[in-house]
Amino acid sequence: MLVDPKSVEEWSRRHHGRIIPLVRTVAERYPLLILHGDVGTGKTVTAEVAANELSREMGREGALFKLSTRVRGAGHVGQMSMLINQAFDIVTKEAGKSRLSFLILDEADSLTASRVQGQSHHEDKVAVNTFIQKIDFVRGLGGQVLLFLCTNRFDVLDPAIVRRAGRVEQFNRPNDDERKALIVMDCDGIKFSNDDLAKLVRLTGPDGVARPVGFTYSDLRTRLFPEALGAVFPKRELTGADLIAAAEHLEPSPATIKPEDRE
Ligand SMILES: Nc1ncnc2c1ncn2[C@@H]1O[C@H](COP(=O)(O)OP(=O)(O)OP(=O)(O)O)[C@@H](O)[C@H]1O
Ligand SMILES: [Mg+2]
Repeated sequence: MLVDPKSVEEWSRRHHGRIIPLVRTVAERYPLLILHGDVGTGKTVTAEVAANELSREMGREGALFKLSTRVRGAGHVGQMSMLINQAFDIVTKEAGKSRLSFLILDEADSLTASRVQGQSHHEDKVAVNTFIQKIDFVRGLGGQVLLFLCTNRFDVLDPAIVRRAGRVEQFNRPNDDERKALIVMDCDGIKFSNDDLAKLVRLTGPDGVARPVGFTYSDLRTRLFPEALGAVFPKRELTGADLIAAAEHLEPSPATIKPEDRE
């Protein structure tokens, strides 16, 4: 709906015989999606996959651009704004009648440090204002550009940006069932008893004492599994016991949001 407002009008004509007012209201939304939540929970991959799927589904060619604001310039006033301006220039130039253009603003925390916070740097405030102007501008293009903003600091996002989001999605660490599903999928072909699996699910979850939070998706994939593999490679096969041993001495990444604030 955000990238193809015309199709919403068609839907309305087909099902309601005319363009109902709600279509106009919905069209007021901005082509901006905010993906926020804890580290390593899939914000960046979801943005990438969503862009890919959307292009495929709509049968339109798509171009994907990423701007990581973790890498900042030398901090000169206006530099951040200049980067944003350049990024939007490229993205809008790539977009066209049949072409979709996606921009992922990753690690967007510094970019969006709330304008109301007294201590936020002048440079950040300028960047936020530039960004807001740019979101307004791409909405006017009528669905050629879709923006994703990924952050693990939703609390410092500028309210003016949050208000413009067409959709806000929170990402959480995997629960027991989700960790289990990932382990079963990634560890296919490895000898595992049901007890091993249950133990691994428990060891990678929060225990409410020493481990207030469990492993993230990326903790499992980029730390636990490689660690277990590294311990046996190239001498012998990998087993459930090796994964358990790795889980026993690894710690989950620290939470960026307080556990009590998690859904
Ligand atoms: N839902 C999921 N299912 C399976 N694997 C996942 C899922 N979410 C994340 N992962 C794995 O975790 C890795 C890290 O995900 P990603 O980089 O998208 O996290 P992120 O939320 O952007 O983290 P950060 O806040 O550190 O940028 C992915 O490459 C993927 O392997
Ligand atoms: Mg990320």
